[in-house]
Amino acid sequence: MSRRKKIYEGKAKILYEGPEPGTLVQYFKDDATAFNAQKKATLDGKGVLNNRISEYVMLRLSEIGIPTHFLKRINMREQLIKKVEIIPLEVICRNTAAGTMSKRLGIEEGEKLPRTIVEFCLKRDDLGDPLIAEEHIHAFGWATHAELDEMIAMTLRINDYLQGMFAGIGINLIDFKIEFGRLPDLNGGHEVILADEISPDSCRLWDRDTNKKLDKDRFRRDLGDVTEAYTEVATRLGILQLNQPKGKPNLSVVTNEE
Ligand code: C5P
Repeated sequence: MSRRKKIYEGKAKILYEGPEPGTLVQYFKDDATAFNAQKKATLDGKGVLNNRISEYVMLRLSEIGIPTHFLKRINMREQLIKKVEIIPLEVICRNTAAGTMSKRLGIEEGEKLPRTIVEFCLKRDDLGDPLIAEEHIHAFGWATHAELDEMIAMTLRINDYLQGMFAGIGINLIDFKIEFGRLPDLNGGHEVILADEISPDSCRLWDRDTNKKLDKDRFRRDLGDVTEAYTEVATRLGILQLNQPKGKPNLSVVTNEE
């Protein structure tokens, strides 16, 4: 692809100007970071897997009526997306206690929560993305009441669908993080749509039978075999073909390279 203007570089992705107004190209890097970028590594093939998995999930969600930023996959590492104004919140949805919730509230990892819980963090790397209350969102105007209602409703719908989708391939959806953006409409208003990515970088996915972690906790906790776990998720979703030598997924078989 020709040289493009870089709009933004994050820890795991880069956004470039898209070919048409209102579009961006989202590039998935192999870089992995954890603990607010204090831990870093490059994981060969992670970007390719997340590009595919996020494409798959976004397509399934748009089929059930969730508006998303995804337009099409361009190649192994890039997808064309709608340009949105990102709402500065990380919306976290939890079904089972794990991670910071377990730490913060002293609930053992793996304990099923009495009900699904939606949390909000402020997207501020310099502050370590602090947990906030809805009160903060209203008081500081990070989102309107209507936007927040829409985000919560979409998050619960996404959770319902993804829990079923992953259950169908023997995976428990423990929790996940999503982001939303504002897409301008023709009337001078805007629509709230799902943005960013949904992948094993942003979800906790445990094998139903063994509780084996198939997500970024393998990197965060030095469990090893990170890309092998992501490959397992992609294979179970039917994204990767299985006719590869054991342990060596040939990622090129699934791509439409330029
Ligand atoms: O770390 P914590 O337990 O709060 O994470 C909850 C969920 O949100 C996990 O699935 C994690 O992968 C995801 N997350 C994320 N990006 C962050 C923080 C959490 O994708 N910055």
